[in-house]
Parts: sequence; C-alpha cells; structure tokens
Amino acid sequence: MNVGDSIFTNSERERLKIVIVGHVDHGKSTLIGRLFYDTNSLPDGKVEAIQKACDAEGMEFEYAFLLDALLEEQEQNITIDTTQIQFRTAKRGYVIIDAPGHKEFLKNMITGAANADAALLLIDANEGVREQSKRHGYLLSLLGIKQVAVIVNKMDLVNYSEEVFDRIVSEYRAFLKPIGVEPRHFIPASAKQGKNIAADSEELAWFKGLSVLAALDSFKTPGAQEELPLRFVLQDIYRFDERRILAGRIETGSVSVGDELVFWPDRKRSRVRSFETWHREAPLPVKTSASAGESVAITLEEQIFVERGQVASHADDGLAEGREFHASLFWLDQESIYLNQPYTLKLGTQAIEARIVKIERVIDSSTLQVIGANRDRIERHEVAEVVIRPRKPIAFDNAERITVTGRFIFQQGARIGGGGIIHSARYAPVLAGAVKSADIEWSVGEVTRELRAQHFGHRGAVIWLTGLSGSGKSTLAVSLEKSLLQRGIGAYILDGDNVRYGLCADLDFSLADRAENIRRVGEVAKLMADAGLVVIGALISPLKAERDQIRQLCQNEGIPFAEVYVNAPLSVCEQRDPKNLYKKARAGQLNGFTGIDSPYESPSAPELELHTDLEPREASLAKLLELSLNVSDMDMPPLVGPFTPVI
Ligand code: ADX
Repeated sequence: MNVGDSIFTNSERERLKIVIVGHVDHGKSTLIGRLFYDTNSLPDGKVEAIQKACDAEGMEFEYAFLLDALLEEQEQNITIDTTQIQFRTAKRGYVIIDAPGHKEFLKNMITGAANADAALLLIDANEGVREQSKRHGYLLSLLGIKQVAVIVNKMDLVNYSEEVFDRIVSEYRAFLKPIGVEPRHFIPASAKQGKNIAADSEELAWFKGLSVLAALDSFKTPGAQEELPLRFVLQDIYRFDERRILAGRIETGSVSVGDELVFWPDRKRSRVRSFETWHREAPLPVKTSASAGESVAITLEEQIFVERGQVASHADDGLAEGREFHASLFWLDQESIYLNQPYTLKLGTQAIEARIVKIERVIDSSTLQVIGANRDRIERHEVAEVVIRPRKPIAFDNAERITVTGRFIFQQGARIGGGGIIHSARYAPVLAGAVKSADIEWSVGEVTRELRAQHFGHRGAVIWLTGLSGSGKSTLAVSLEKSLLQRGIGAYILDGDNVRYGLCADLDFSLADRAENIRRVGEVAKLMADAGLVVIGALISPLKAERDQIRQLCQNEGIPFAEVYVNAPLSVCEQRDPKNLYKKARAGQLNGFTGIDSPYESPSAPELELHTDLEPREASLAKLLELSLNVSDMDMPPLVGPFTPVI
C-alpha cells in the first residue's frame, strides 16, 4: 500500500454519497439518467448517439438508456467500480452508490462499504406507497441515514395533481414517523419529463419546496462528521525499522499530533507522535492533523500492542464496550438466522464470532406489525429486537450517535445475511473523564428501555429547568410533577435544594462544587429516566458547559432531554426573594450568590423559554406540560435517537 496515495483530497471529502431506493418500477434508472443529463455529466455525444439508436429502432428516447449506456462503458473499463457512478452540480460532486441493476443493493447498503450520506426514496405517484417503499424506509432508519428526500415521481401520470401528492406524503410520513425517519423533503417530480429535477416546473407551480438537485445540494457532506467524537478505525499495522505504523480511516472527528488516544476495546493509551505520508515522488508537507473521511497512517509515542479491528478515540470521549448489546437486526438472507448459533459479526474492522442470545420481538418490515416474541429464528425481511453476545467484549457506539461504529453485519460463512444497529451502548461518564478502573463493565439487564416504556405507557425523559434563584423553577416543577401524575405519567423532581440534603450534602456553592452538583444530579436524572420516569431537574445550573454535558449524556444514550429556561430578570427575582437570600447576599452575609457575585449564563438554544415575570403561572405550566407530554410520548420518534426539539 502506498499510504500517501490513499490520503483523501478535500474535494473527495466534499463529495456526497447518495443512494436511490424505491420499488422496482418506480423510476430509478430514469431519474439517474435525468440527473446525468440535467447536470451535463454525460460524455460528449452520448445523448445524440442514443437518440440516433432509438430513431433507428423506431423506439422512444428514454433517459434510462443513458444510464445503461454509461454502465456499459464503465464495465469495459475495469478500473472503475461499476457500483458507483458520479455526477456534479455547481456546488459539488455526487456518487450514486449502487446503481440499479445491482441485485445486492440491500446487502451492499448494510455492509457499510456503501456508506451513504443521504438517500432519495422514490415513489411512483400513480402507484403510491408500496410494500417495498416501506421496507426501504425501514432500512434507512436502521442504517441511520438521516438525510432523506422522498421523491414522488411520475407526477405526469397523475396530471401533476397536488391532491395525489398530498395523499402520498401523508401516508408515507405516517409510516416513517414511528420508525424515526423524518424526510427533510417531499418532492413531486417527473424524471421522464424533467419536471422539478434540476429546476422548478410550471406544471408543479403549486409546489413551493426545492427541486431534486436543490434538495441534494442542501444536504451536508461527511465533512460534518468532523464535529463528532474521534473514531479512528484501524485497518493494518505495519512494521518499518523499529517503528509500528498504524493505518486506518478516520470515520468521525479529528486528530492531531500530541493527542492522547485510547484504543478500544483494550483501552491501551498512547499519544500520536506523527503522521506518516511517505510517497514515491515529492515529499508531502508534514502533516500534523487529520479529520473525518481521511485515511491516514500514524505512529505513537509508546510501542503499545494494537491490532486491526481496534478503534481509537480521544480519552474523554470513548466508545462503549461490552460483552452483550441490544440491537435491531434486519434479516435479508433466504436462510433464517437462528438463536444461539455462531455467526460472524463485523463492526468497523472488527470481525468476531457472535450469537443472538435473545430475540425479543420480531416485526414485519413493511407492516410494522409485531409478528412474534421469543422466537428461535428470524426470517427473511423481518426486523427483530435482539440481544447479541460476541465471543469477546467489543467496542461500539449507539448508532444514533455515531453510525459507522454503531452498525454491524452478520455473515453466514462468506454471505452477508443481514445487518443492524446498536442501541444500548453505555458510555463511561463523559463529565468526570474516564472511569477510574478499566475492570468494570456495564451489565445489561433483560428489561429494555422500550419494554419499560410499553409497561408504563410512556417514555422516560429529562426536563431540565434552569434559571436564577427565585425565577420559579421549583414552583413550576411542583405543578408539572402533579399534572403529569394526574395524566398517568410517572414523574419525579430533582430539586437543587433537596439533593443538597443527601446526595450532594458535601458540596458548597463554589463553581467547582456546583459543577459536581450538576454532574451528579444529571447522572441520577439519566438513570431515573432510563428507569422510565419523567425527571424534572430544578437547579440553577448556572453554567452552559455543565448543562450541555447533561444534554450530551442523555442524547448519547437515547434519552429525550429538554432544557427549559425559566427566565425572570434578576430585579424580579430579587424582589420576590422567597428565602431572603438576595437580601443576605446584598448585605454581604452570603458569598458567591448567583446573579450577585457569581455568574449565570443564559441558555442559547433552550427547547423552551418561560418568562415567569410576564405571563401567569398557568400559561407557563401549560407550555411546560405540552413539552413534557411530547417528549415522553411513545409515538414520538425516535426512541433511540437524539431528541429533536418540539417547540
Ligand atoms: S446550583 O448552582 O448548584 O445549580 P442549586 O440549584 O443546586 O444551585 O441550589 C440553589 C439553591 O441553593 C438556591 O435556590 C438557594 O436556595 C440555595 N443557595 C444557598 N446559597 C446559594 C448561593 N450562594 N447561590 C445560589 N443559591 C444558593
């Protein structure tokens, strides 16, 4: 391998990998042909040549022929991967993974080799939502592809009817919502007639959204993966002289020389000494950092033993690790997968023998009906909630947090049988840094969060009220707790004053102790929400960083979190002064009082802001209640995903 050669250029990182899925006859080839045509991505003379051939045969010109011709050409050139075809818009390049005609499409997708950044879901306006449309929708949700546009194609066949479009949109939206897929765009179009593909069309003047190409351009490239925690997946270790060189791909985040890395699942640590960019020709400039999408080779300061399959992270934002995890598994092979039988599990570059030790429930992927519980096998096209046990502990993430390390495939022999996503990863505390001992492991119970939610009839969640002393947090919390209970929703208040009677009795009001106070209460809130309760945190929690950490903590583990800013101006709080503490602080009898001589940072993007000085308590309570009902509602997707603000 020539490492220098494999270093990604920026333009490659800016390319968007898309997948186009839909029922067989819903127009994939035509759409692709049209995308090529409209973006001038075809070789010169191609269109004319095909037009001529069609004329000679007395056939109507079809855009799908363009694709066929293109694929044929690529097939003659063995250096081009025929499963990947490319086009460009003014903004950037696109790779269409898995052109139609490649039968193994679903399998390609779940291998992750065909890791799509975005998906176009095609529906035939004339036929509406079909079984395959639903399966594909489900698959996208399992693969964690969040950038989705639904194209209602062949609008010419329904006279560009807005009503038909609306009907399909509402039917499909209703199907997708509970499985956590919320398409960014629904677009009426006709690939054949070229309507709404590259530009708006007169016939669809009633439609105010984006055209297909504009929607594609609105999606984010994997460059955005840089924002996520570092996941450096090791592919090979080379020995040169005395040095060990670790080659792999940075899937998410970024890394620089000097950074301390932890290699999972062993948790060995070392710092990055250098990036190796040996190259045949001119030496490249010395590299000191790299980020998502790049394949790199590094050396470490210490010669620790690491091997292919391991994943490196930064010390304070590691992977989860365990002997067992909960997952959703999508089965595709003719031959069923059986309970307690050994299969090969592949996750990143880790490959290990694993068994399904429990099949909790099985769902038909097109009807979403639960079709069985405690079965001993999963059949083709079924999705199941399962517990998987690899032979040795492995490292992983929740797919909702980091897709690449949260997604796996199962092989029977050399055949890919199915794939799935993990949603029970437990992380070492992010707030206090790494866990002190490496010899502890989260033990996974048999009662999943989902089962608890079904039992209670609602989800657990954390509603975090922040604001100055006297702003009304505790009062609102008390009313909210009562209102929730009256509606059959288990709720519990964690109040700043109360926790200082026990859990946090050792803490004072220094900023450091407040941070620890918030961390502890955040951890408890997370556990109680995991147990199924709606936890109402009522703490000043003056600093943004600590509040954000709780948000992160909850989101990492798929617990809905909402921050509520109980906002009353200092002057009002001081006037209310329910505990006479402002007076004491002003009189110099109380030091470090929030708002007087200790800071309060207002939330920048709370899910809800309540002006308790301007509106009656009932009005604030009503908003708070609505938010809480929404986040704990079982029908609100996604159970495993980051919570999207509802207000
Ligand atoms: S936090 O800053 O750590 O979030 P928390 O909400 O737990 O504070 O506790 C705040 C409560 O402690 C206030 O409502 C008030 O009754 C009491 N308190 C006592 N001393 C202080 C102080 N110096 N600053 C703020 N609150 C204080």
